[in-house]
Amino acid sequence: AIKQDLTGQHWVITAGPTMEAIDPVRYISNHSSGKMGYALATAAQARGASVTLISGPVQCAAPHGVNLVSVKSADEMLAACESNMTQQADVFIGAAAVADFKMKTATDQKMKKQSDSDEIQLTLVKNPDIIATLTQKKRAKYMVGFAAETQKVVEYAKGKLVKKGLDIIIANDVSRTDIGFNQDQNQVTVITKDNTWSPSKAAKKELATQLVSFIYEYTASTPSTN
Ligand code: C5P
Repeated sequence: AIKQDLTGQHWVITAGPTMEAIDPVRYISNHSSGKMGYALATAAQARGASVTLISGPVQCAAPHGVNLVSVKSADEMLAACESNMTQQADVFIGAAAVADFKMKTATDQKMKKQSDSDEIQLTLVKNPDIIATLTQKKRAKYMVGFAAETQKVVEYAKGKLVKKGLDIIIANDVSRTDIGFNQDQNQVTVITKDNTWSPSKAAKKELATQLVSFIYEYTASTPSTN
């Protein structure tokens, strides 16, 4: 039997891509499969946590016993996080691949092909940084983020740890095609203010169990700064 040492805790996890509407029929998104976030939700739930999984559009099945909240855009994802964290959560894990930009104004009618021009300009504006917003508002006792990098993985991830005010950042190298986006396997480096830990490459489900243990042990041994 799995230890139920997360009983009484509320963990909120984001997963998957966000989908930013261009018009009623088109969107901007990315290749995130949601597998890592769903595996983390399953692992935390199995250990007794009450889990809210706030997910962009993915093909993954809803994990049994998890409160799944489905959203599309980054704005919707942030709103869903806030409304599910009115009481401070114990742990927040941002595993979603949030689109950096959205349309400045999404049109409510389908954009027409302009026959007189071979070019079109879309004006994009920055999406809110969900995890940084929630950290600022102290919406969880402990904040965990992911950092998908293609170079200087640990160095860049450490920068994000500090900049976003996170407790833990989980870095992965998305330039490798055998791990990460859309793969069942992942290899990550877990970084805190004082330590780095690189568990070996493993199935996302197995890795999720190890990451949940790491996060729990961190919370049990480190006073919350929120
Ligand atoms: O800055 P970057 O997108 O690399 O940071 C990745 C981390 O920040 C992930 O944990 C991701 O879920 C989170 N994030 C977010 N809102 C954004 C962008 C990223 O919560 N708009």
